[in-house]
Amino acid sequence: MERLLIDLGEDSYYIDIDEDLLEIMDKAIDSGDKIVLITDKNVDNLYGKAIEKFLKDKKPYKITIPPGEKSKTMATVEYILSQMLDCGLTRNSKVIALGGGVVGDIAGFSASIYMRGIDFVQVPTTLLAQVDSSVGGKTGINMPAGKNTVGSFYQPKAVLIDTKVLKTLPKRELISGIGEVIKYGIIYDDMFLNDIKNEFEAILKLDYKVMKKVIRRCCEIKAAIVSQDEKEKGIRKILNFGHTIGHGLEAITNYKKYTHGEAVIIGMYYEAKLAKSLGYIKETYFKEITDIIHKTEVSLDITMLSLEDLTHAMIKDKKNRGEKISFILPIDKGKVKEVLLFPNEVMW
Ligand SMILES: NC(=O)c1ccc[n+]([C@@H]2O[C@H](COP(=O)([O-])OP(=O)(O)OC[C@H]3O[C@@H](n4cnc5c(N)ncnc54)[C@H](O)[C@@H]3O)[C@@H](O)[C@H]2O)c1
Ligand SMILES: [Zn+2]
Repeated sequence: MERLLIDLGEDSYYIDIDEDLLEIMDKAIDSGDKIVLITDKNVDNLYGKAIEKFLKDKKPYKITIPPGEKSKTMATVEYILSQMLDCGLTRNSKVIALGGGVVGDIAGFSASIYMRGIDFVQVPTTLLAQVDSSVGGKTGINMPAGKNTVGSFYQPKAVLIDTKVLKTLPKRELISGIGEVIKYGIIYDDMFLNDIKNEFEAILKLDYKVMKKVIRRCCEIKAAIVSQDEKEKGIRKILNFGHTIGHGLEAITNYKKYTHGEAVIIGMYYEAKLAKSLGYIKETYFKEITDIIHKTEVSLDITMLSLEDLTHAMIKDKKNRGEKISFILPIDKGKVKEVLLFPNEVMW
C-alpha cells in the first residue's frame, strides 16, 4: 500500500492507495457512534452491497443521490442534512463519501455544516476524484449564478483510494481524469508529463502498477501545493491551469456537453495556445503539450460555440480581479504563472 501524508498541522491526514482497499475499509475507518455512507445511484448499484458487507458490524446508514453534476445543488444538501438528522447522527458520527467528485464535494460540504462539522472520509471512485477532488479539502455546490460558488474548505480525516474500482468506470470518465493527470505534469513536473506520454496506453488499460504510481504522483503534487497554501491565496491557484476556459466552456454549454475533465483538456489546449501567442512559451514546448492532449482524443473544436459567450462566462469567474480575467499559463517546462488579462487581450 502507498501512504502519503497531507501535512496541514492539526488537520493533517493520510491518503492510502492500493487495490482492494475497500475490502479492508472497516479497519481504516475508526468508529464514530454512527456511520453514514453518501453515494450516488450508479456507484451504489456497483459497490453499495459490497461496502456494507466490508463495513461488517459498523452497519452504515446510506444516503443515495442521483448521479451527475445536476445533483450538486443546495436542494440535495438539504435532502442529505435532513436524512442525517433523521438517522440521529451526532457530532461523533462519521460521513463516508463514496463516489466521484460530485459525491465528494457535496458529502464534504454537508459534513462541514452538519452540527457545525462532523468527520468525513473520502473514498473516491473516479480517476478524477482519486487524483484531484478528494484531496485538498475543497467542498461545495453549484448555484444558478455559477459552479462551486458556495462551499467550504473542510479537510477529510482520511482518503482511501482503491484503484480496482476504476475497472467499472466508463472510458469517457477515465479520459476526464487523465485530463487532470496531464495538468499536474504541465504545472509542476515535466518528467511526470513524459512518463504519462510514454505510459499512456498502460494508463488506458488501467495497468495496476502504472496506475498506483500515477495516482500517487498526482496526490503528492497536490499535497505539496495544498500544504503550502490550503486556502488558495497563492500557489494553490496553479491547480487552475486549463480551468478558466474549462469552467467557461462548462457554463456556456449548461454543464451538459462536456464532462469537467473534457472541458479542462480543451481549456489546457487553448490556454497553452494563449501562452504561445503571448510569447510565454515557444512552439516546441507548445507541441509537447498538444501531443499529449491529442492522445486523449477529445475534440478540441469549439468553433460551434460563441467566443463572446465564453468570454462573458470567464468574466464571471470567482478567481478574477477587477476587470481582468485570471489565467494560469505555462511559462516553461513544469512551470506556470498567473496572468491577468483584459477580455480583449484573450486570443489564440
Ligand atoms: N473539490 C475539488 O477540489 C474538486 C476538484 C476537481 C473537480 N471537482 C468537482 O468534481 C466533479 C466531477 O467529478 P467526477 O468527474 O468524478 O464526476 P462524477 O462524480 O459525476 O462521476 C462521474 C460519473 O461516474 C460514475 N461513477 C463514479 N465512480 C464510478 C465507478 N467506479 N464505476 C462506474 N461509474 C462510476 C458516477 O456515478 C457519474 O455518473 C465536478 O463537480 C467538479 O467541480 C472538485
Ligand atoms: Zn478540475
